[in-house]
Amino acid sequence: AFPKRIFSGIQPTGIPHIGNYLGAVTNWVRLQEASQQDEVIFCVVDMHSITLPQDPQQLKNNIYDMVACLLACGIDPKKSILFQQSAVQQHAELAWVLGCITTMKRLGHLPQWKTKSAKRREGVCVGLYTYPVLMSADILLYKATHVPVGDDQIQHVELTQDIARVFNNLYGNFFPRPQVLFSEVKKVKSLRDPSSKMSKSDSSHLSRIELTDTDKEIHMKFRKAVTDFTSAVTYDPDRLGVTNIINIHSAFTGITPDKICDDVKNLTTAEYKKVVADAVIENLTPVRDEITRLQQEKHYIEDILKLGADRARTIAMETYNDVKKLVGF
Ligand code: ADP
Ligand code: NA
Repeated sequence: AFPKRIFSGIQPTGIPHIGNYLGAVTNWVRLQEASQQDEVIFCVVDMHSITLPQDPQQLKNNIYDMVACLLACGIDPKKSILFQQSAVQQHAELAWVLGCITTMKRLGHLPQWKTKSAKRREGVCVGLYTYPVLMSADILLYKATHVPVGDDQIQHVELTQDIARVFNNLYGNFFPRPQVLFSEVKKVKSLRDPSSKMSKSDSSHLSRIELTDTDKEIHMKFRKAVTDFTSAVTYDPDRLGVTNIINIHSAFTGITPDKICDDVKNLTTAEYKKVVADAVIENLTPVRDEITRLQQEKHYIEDILKLGADRARTIAMETYNDVKKLVGF
């Protein structure tokens, strides 16, 4: 039996929005609080982010920003291992070994490859094709048993399960079969187009609320959020815009959607948006203040990352040294 270990990664793509916060990061903090030391590993996956073109200075800043955000949201480097992927060389080394037991065909079938490569017909890089192998290496390097990811990553965890099985068939029972840990939070939708999810890649900044938005911006974004022509606040699946706003309110306050609708039955949608904006501001203000403070503390962030990398490397080296022996290196 393999001891419990949780691994998850997040790309350093700028300040997280409330979808990332509610759907991923707060869930990570919950898992951290429910776990023992060294059981929970969070990785800022900078090597994944260069599968798309990046400005070096921007990437560097994004890494600092992401760490600042994770710390501000409650990831505690005393309880979890928090580190930067490229600081632990065994990720790339194990990815090579795993790539040699993974077929082109298996990778070509992955839905995310199909959609991402279709968008970039010209000059799509090898890294974009093989990045699910690197993700498998991220997970297996720590013999992780549980992987909290969003639905868009489920196929990649299934690939990891397959690769672990192929490796184990060749070399003996070495890797656990990692399981997906689902988040219970409903997907946060775009404020401009509530039929699609809130996303960093959306070109409109009005579509998402970022953790460092000012009070004014948060009010403005809710005011401009797309709803419909019905003034009452009701939790109706056909009313995508209002339902999304109620879900956001509910996720931040813990009040159920039904109770919310009852509480605000005398308000119009426009008035209700102000209530939600205030609730979001109240919850995010301490997080935002802490992010802003940590953004000025580059040396502290570097120390945290160094400590995290040292702890991650200890585990990674042990796994990879065993892999080398098994493979015959
Ligand atoms: P984005 O689409 O904004 O680039 P990522 O793909 O980097 O987000 O996702 C990072 C994490 O945040 C993943 O665990 C993902 O499932 C979660 N996540 C992203 N967008 C949302 C959303 N709108 N609602 C809930 N969770 C989300
Ligand atoms: Na994404």
